[in-house]
Amino acid sequence: MVTIREEARRDIAARDALLDLAYGASRLAKTSERLREGRIPVDGQSLVAVDDGKIVGTVRLWHVTAGPGRAALLLGPLAVDPAHRNRGIGAALVRRAVARARLAGHRAIVLVGDATYYGRFGFAAARTGELWMPGRYDRDRLLALELQPDAMAGARGLIAATGAFTPKADLNTLIAANDGDRRPRRARVQRAA
Ligand SMILES: CC(C)(COP(=O)(O)OP(=O)(O)OC[C@H]1O[C@@H](n2cnc3c(N)ncnc32)[C@H](O)[C@@H]1OP(=O)(O)O)[C@@H](O)C(=O)NCCC(=O)NCCS
Repeated sequence: MVTIREEARRDIAARDALLDLAYGASRLAKTSERLREGRIPVDGQSLVAVDDGKIVGTVRLWHVTAGPGRAALLLGPLAVDPAHRNRGIGAALVRRAVARARLAGHRAIVLVGDATYYGRFGFAAARTGELWMPGRYDRDRLLALELQPDAMAGARGLIAATGAFTPKADLNTLIAANDGDRRPRRARVQRAA
């Protein structure tokens, strides 16, 4: 059975592998990535789909401003393992992310993606015509979903990242990430020295 839960630190490697599989090596060159790199995703809004202990889907939300003074969220990347597609996992991830964002009081979500896919969740290009991304993108693929009435009315300007910056990794963090050891950091550094 597929379950959806918040992403945990132990999921990072499997999630990266899934994104490589779904998008290929050029995924980090996407313009949306310019809004994500070096930033922390929205707290509690990184979700994974798990089937029999395996990560088979992922989605995240990010803080952005959709033109000056208009707080919004950016959705992406969304990916489902090719072996598990067409089972509703992508839809379940999007719907859960949208529901959580609505519950948390966010006003709108933007993304770059296929309208033929995201249209079913209410995303549309109707109010994104005066917005632009920090790089190349297909204008028809810039979509928005209003979580509150008219949240995107008159939206104009650059979509820019507003999330907190990722803290710089220190030696202890890198060691912990590498060996998964949960013992106190000081002890491990001494052991390694
Ligand atoms: C897009 C993606 C997340 C969908 O995941 P999924 O779990 O298979 O999605 P669901 O089961 O909820 O929905 C499947 C439906 O979406 C359709 N669909 C899948 N990708 C689509 C796309 N890019 N455009 C339009 N429709 C699409 C399928 O044909 C299927 O249609 P049906 O319901 O009429 O049979 C998955 O195909 C994927 O990871 N693709 C590669 C990464 C990607 O392109 N992500 C962004 C999408 S713009």
